[in-house]
Amino acid sequence: MNKQFQQDYERFKNLSYEDFKALAKDESLSVYQKIGFPDEYRKGKEKDIFIDIGGKLGWQNETGKTILDIGCGCSDLVNFIIDHGKNTSAKLLLVDSAEMLQLVKNELFIEKYAGYFPNDTKDLTEQYAGKVDYIIAYSIFHYIFYNTCMFRFLDTALSLLKPGGKMLLADIPNVDKRKRFFSSDRGVQSHKEFMNDDSMPVLQYNTPEPGQIDDSIINAILQRYRNFGYETYLLSQPENLPMWNRRDDILIQRI
Ligand SMILES: C[S@@+](CC[C@H](N)C(=O)[O-])C[C@H]1O[C@@H](n2cnc3c(N)ncnc32)[C@H](O)[C@@H]1O
Repeated sequence: MNKQFQQDYERFKNLSYEDFKALAKDESLSVYQKIGFPDEYRKGKEKDIFIDIGGKLGWQNETGKTILDIGCGCSDLVNFIIDHGKNTSAKLLLVDSAEMLQLVKNELFIEKYAGYFPNDTKDLTEQYAGKVDYIIAYSIFHYIFYNTCMFRFLDTALSLLKPGGKMLLADIPNVDKRKRFFSSDRGVQSHKEFMNDDSMPVLQYNTPEPGQIDDSIINAILQRYRNFGYETYLLSQPENLPMWNRRDDILIQRI
């Protein structure tokens, strides 16, 4: 693990929405650092993330769709999504802080909504209720989970879907998934290679981990929206993505 990575890893460990605004304004940072990742986790990898998102949403051969990206950030990923929107004559709705959105290019087919979703974005949620084909919420849910009512965030987002519309709530860090990986032989080996020493991963069990998303939260989301009449699916990330061994993706479809 190099020194810059270690510094970034510590610095980006517990970010809030307000912290992201400060990162967005810091001109010394790369676009990946501005969205809270050490470069190693995102640089050169966002095309693969974009391909995975498209495969999960199944939007490849479709045109004229309305796509919403909540917490779009400012790195290559949002640019791939913008290119997709342009190539498919989509309408693209982008939500993030004004500081982050300022770093994202403007195009006629893009509408930007600055503010904390759902608290500050009533203009979006009122105008687009039942009108959105695809919602992307990539690598954002862990910033919502312990700061906002997570179900209000999801209930509001899902109220925007058209019949047949899909929401990808993705790149969710699941502490139980992480423990399963790092207690396996393969996980121990990968930890040793990453640390470049012979240490074992540190894993805690049977202790409160209040801010962490675990299997119980993942299962509660899958169950709640099935009970609300949606279909929900727990999906894996392909192994070419940087954190496939500790992150979960959830696809929710309005029937
Ligand atoms: C880790 S970054 C992910 C960015 C992008 N989705 C990606 O994966 O490349 C999280 C982003 O979500 C934004 N964010 C966090 N909570 C938000 C909220 N409640 N409403 C809007 N944006 C939010 C942050 O400002 C930040 O840009």
